[in-house]
Amino acid sequence: MLYPQSNRFRQQVDLSGVWDFRFDPQNEGDQASWQSGFTGARPAAVPASWNEQFEDGRDYLGVAWYQTEFTIPWGWAADKHSISVRFESVNYSAEVWLNGVQLGAHEGGHLPFEFDITKHIRPANNRLVVRVDGELTPDRVPPGNLASLMQQEKQIAFEETNFPAGSFDFFPFCGIQRPVTLIVAPREGISDLTVLTDIADRDGRVRVQIKHNGAGEMTARVALKNTDSLAEAVINDETKEVLLEVPDAHFWSPASPYLYDLHIELVQGTSVLDEYSLQVGIRTIRVQGDQLLLNGEPVYLRGFGRHEDFPVIGRGYAPAVIVKDYALMQWMGANSFRTTHYPYSETMMQLADRLGFLVIDETPAVGLFFANEGLEQRLELCKQYTKELIARDKNHPSVIMWSLANEPHSQQYQAESSAFFSPLFDLARSLDSSRPLTMTSYIGLQEPAYEFADVLSLNRYAGWYSQPGQLDEAIPVLSAELDALHQKFNKPIIVTEFGADALAGHHAQPPEMFSEEYQADMLEQYIQLFRTKAFVIGEHIWNLCDFKTGQSVRRVGGLNLKGIFTRDRRPKLAAHRVRALWTNPTTKD
Ligand code: GCU
Repeated sequence: MLYPQSNRFRQQVDLSGVWDFRFDPQNEGDQASWQSGFTGARPAAVPASWNEQFEDGRDYLGVAWYQTEFTIPWGWAADKHSISVRFESVNYSAEVWLNGVQLGAHEGGHLPFEFDITKHIRPANNRLVVRVDGELTPDRVPPGNLASLMQQEKQIAFEETNFPAGSFDFFPFCGIQRPVTLIVAPREGISDLTVLTDIADRDGRVRVQIKHNGAGEMTARVALKNTDSLAEAVINDETKEVLLEVPDAHFWSPASPYLYDLHIELVQGTSVLDEYSLQVGIRTIRVQGDQLLLNGEPVYLRGFGRHEDFPVIGRGYAPAVIVKDYALMQWMGANSFRTTHYPYSETMMQLADRLGFLVIDETPAVGLFFANEGLEQRLELCKQYTKELIARDKNHPSVIMWSLANEPHSQQYQAESSAFFSPLFDLARSLDSSRPLTMTSYIGLQEPAYEFADVLSLNRYAGWYSQPGQLDEAIPVLSAELDALHQKFNKPIIVTEFGADALAGHHAQPPEMFSEEYQADMLEQYIQLFRTKAFVIGEHIWNLCDFKTGQSVRRVGGLNLKGIFTRDRRPKLAAHRVRALWTNPTTKD
């Protein structure tokens, strides 16, 4: 899926701003024809979650309606251009109308979708209406409101202790949470690009697969700016691959995130119909034994699990917060993060390429369970999300691994979980054989999906949820478990979550749980332990920042306090202690 861009053939218009908004708790909008427009609206910011914008919106996860109006961008010509509207993320599901005509629907937040509106537009006063549904249900992903089902299954329902009842530990923010863009493109143009890179000694190779939506034969002219690498190929309706050789190439890595400007022109006869530019990083990534090799060299992942989370905007798109979080991660000496627990914004991914971060790119499949109710639907959604995520992020050099789920509840459903993940891993491999696959488990040894993964991602909180307050007990337990896990699966391991809650400003000597000292000690002891395990290839602290959760006895102020920075990005003691470890030359690389 191409990201919107402006050039001599393409134009984009950002519809961000203040839209009309209305809650629909009685679900009356459908009958009352709000699809063509509605009254009784209040102003709401787009993009942003609705939950923290209003006094009466925080816990509302039902149906709400948005509307805005736009005029057609100048220079648009019906015989030359198509025009579409692209939503980068609406959570949880959206139905969209233009001038009263239904364009379509999309289920699942955090991944983009778009509709062609060419046939439905008029010069001015185009009314775009969006019906958003944020409800938590067992047959959605991520699921919620499972309490009754979990009781039948005799499982302690995390949801029973959590309001709103999400089967996951973050607030289920809803709304139009990333930009909405009008896209003007040539009627016959480039429709998709796939870039695969390889290295041989000091030379780079860039394979470019090109799709177009034009009629008949066309020619693609492909060039890497600032190099002599260019190629030309005739393409027809199926994909065509073009190869660019780059002698003595600059390879992409965290230490040197060199990006080439790839430029493609689509030509028919003597006319150029379309053009598209893409930044390309030449690198390879693969697992070899117990190592993760970047450009043939072992690499160690130091970083974080995060959330897209900030006061008032909730899960809303915030470039300043994105830039700030990268600055904090660079200050810490980090080189990696996992997109917990959903795909992050496209801006976040572009900056990972530019700043040199190694990303484990995770689908929204968090909190999965395998009781029969809704199981088929949850698998279908996980397949949809996997396809959409790979289609969106496949060309980022920073994406080094796909994670197909976080913490599925597989314990009592070994066979069902294995039957669920086997086709999911097959699908991901069929879509992208160039990257290793993982999934993130809290079960460990008994996790069925580890059989299919190239790398094992493990979340562990010994010293917190187990052996509470007893780090001396916890570290040996963790050490033994890591050895047993490696012994059983003989695959490299990333500890993708470890951490402790710390109330900023709360101190204790000797350290005790919820003090900054305890959090710092726990992280330090985990990191020192990982340095003794050659098969541990990465450490991601949970979490970079404190973040909003549902209300529960486990979450003071409705916050998860495992951040080493507060929710407004101020450092705790742990930030300084971990930074000293990660910027120390003896850091494990
Ligand atoms: C889990 C989960 C996180 C959660 C964390 C915690 O590992 O993946 O989403 O926030 O535990 O309990 O703090």
